[in-house]
Amino acid sequence: MTKGNAPTKADFVVVANRLPVDLERLEDGTERWKHSPGGLVTALEPFLRARQGAWVGWPGVPDVDVEPFTDEDMRLYPVRLSSSEFRQYYEGFSNATLWPLYHDVVVPPVFDRSWWEAYRRVNRRFAEAAAEVSSEGATVWIQDYQLQLVPAMLRELRPDLRIGFFLHIPFPPVELFMQLPWRTEIVRGLLGADLVGFHRPGGAQNFMWLARRLAGFEPSRAQVGVRSRPGVVRVGDRVVRVGAFPISIASGELDQLARTKEVQQRAKAIRAELGNPRKIMLGVDRLDYTKGIDVRLDAMYELLAEGHATVEDVAMIQVATPSRERVEHYKQMREDIERKVGSINGEFGRVGHPAVHYLHTSVDRKDLVAFYCAADVMIVTPVRDGMNLVCKEYVACRNDLGGSLVLSEFAGAAAELTSALLVNPHDLDGVKDAMLAALNIDHAEGRRRMRALRRQVLTHDVDRWARSFLEALGASPTG
Ligand code: ADP
Ligand code: F6P
Repeated sequence: MTKGNAPTKADFVVVANRLPVDLERLEDGTERWKHSPGGLVTALEPFLRARQGAWVGWPGVPDVDVEPFTDEDMRLYPVRLSSSEFRQYYEGFSNATLWPLYHDVVVPPVFDRSWWEAYRRVNRRFAEAAAEVSSEGATVWIQDYQLQLVPAMLRELRPDLRIGFFLHIPFPPVELFMQLPWRTEIVRGLLGADLVGFHRPGGAQNFMWLARRLAGFEPSRAQVGVRSRPGVVRVGDRVVRVGAFPISIASGELDQLARTKEVQQRAKAIRAELGNPRKIMLGVDRLDYTKGIDVRLDAMYELLAEGHATVEDVAMIQVATPSRERVEHYKQMREDIERKVGSINGEFGRVGHPAVHYLHTSVDRKDLVAFYCAADVMIVTPVRDGMNLVCKEYVACRNDLGGSLVLSEFAGAAAELTSALLVNPHDLDGVKDAMLAALNIDHAEGRRRMRALRRQVLTHDVDRWARSFLEALGASPTG
């Protein structure tokens, strides 16, 4: 990573909780930057690099002051969080209140007033940082649930800016959103933007209903379309557009990477290291309770117990990136997953053939692509997911038309990837049947499905997502 001093003002600014790189403190006291986890960074980083924009975000470690710097073509502006803000704003309000509330209350959200105060305070700090780095009339694109108050705060500070907001996670049904004690403030915060974007039209419709119910602003009545026909909410003399923009990946780049000799050889080596099983099944996720890792482990358990699979025949790999490790529900879930892995391996594993190869780590890009190329079956079973990029990455890597995708209906991606084997993750028999069908899929049928999936993923990449959002915002996507 080349570093240099960042110039002071920018015409295009992304504001997100995290910078695209995280500061890591090593045991020997030295520090280094590493790639940040999650789909938001995967999606936005290639776009922003090409555009030479600025990125305002937290450097991933509390209590550090980092000067603005340039990382190749991106200008990075770090925002400081104290340890108590990290606990209350990030672990607390963002990830123990909003995250579960917006993911269908999979676990009970915690409503804590001091967390809300910290959320407000930190959102103000992000708004101030964005106001400072934006040039006159700049476009500012605010990202995700951690920063929902920033649009209105920033508008107050800098009415000259064009402000967009995109939510990377699902926007919940109105009955669930109404539980939030600070629901009106959040809706008013978002209405500070010129364009509020969601993955799915349903999220946009829910938000417009709430704009009327909670803030008293009249929304348009026509159904919101995908990438087109945004809804409109009149807020005084301003017009706020509300639209659906399903996010994607840099599919062309991934397709090219998957074709390289190095990746193909690595994929072969992975298969050989596993003892050349007939089939490889793969899961790749942040270790999050919304991802349904337990569901696929339960299904695997039953497939083995019922004799539909043996450990010599089928190798299952689960790669799980550590995530939000001090948040209570994450701790519990990790214990639960690791107990399940232990008991499946204890019961069915043989020397040299564990039933589940479980890696609690992040893997680098080339290795990840090699895993995708090696996997005959990709299992993506979230109980709720805004989009899910992993399934799109898998498809982008399969130019050989090999491999089958088992995908939850509750991932935003299911609306686009209709040729996957779609499953209800709450229906264990259904998940099991789909896994078995994927393991034994007819060659021609598998290729037909993969061809259709690739047509979708390769023509709807992250560049198209960003362009469609910025065009709807009225900002030139190339400028
Ligand atoms: P989320 O944003 O909730 O984490 P997504 O599926 O949308 O979920 O995006 C996850 C991103 O993180 C993808 O780009 C995926 O490749 C990456 N990722 C997930 N798990 C790992 C892992 N163990 N190692 C490396 N990258 C990972
Ligand atoms: O896409 C959802 C998201 O929460 C992003 O906002 C975030 O960057 C990513 O997942 C990873 O989560 P975290 O930043 O909490 O590690």
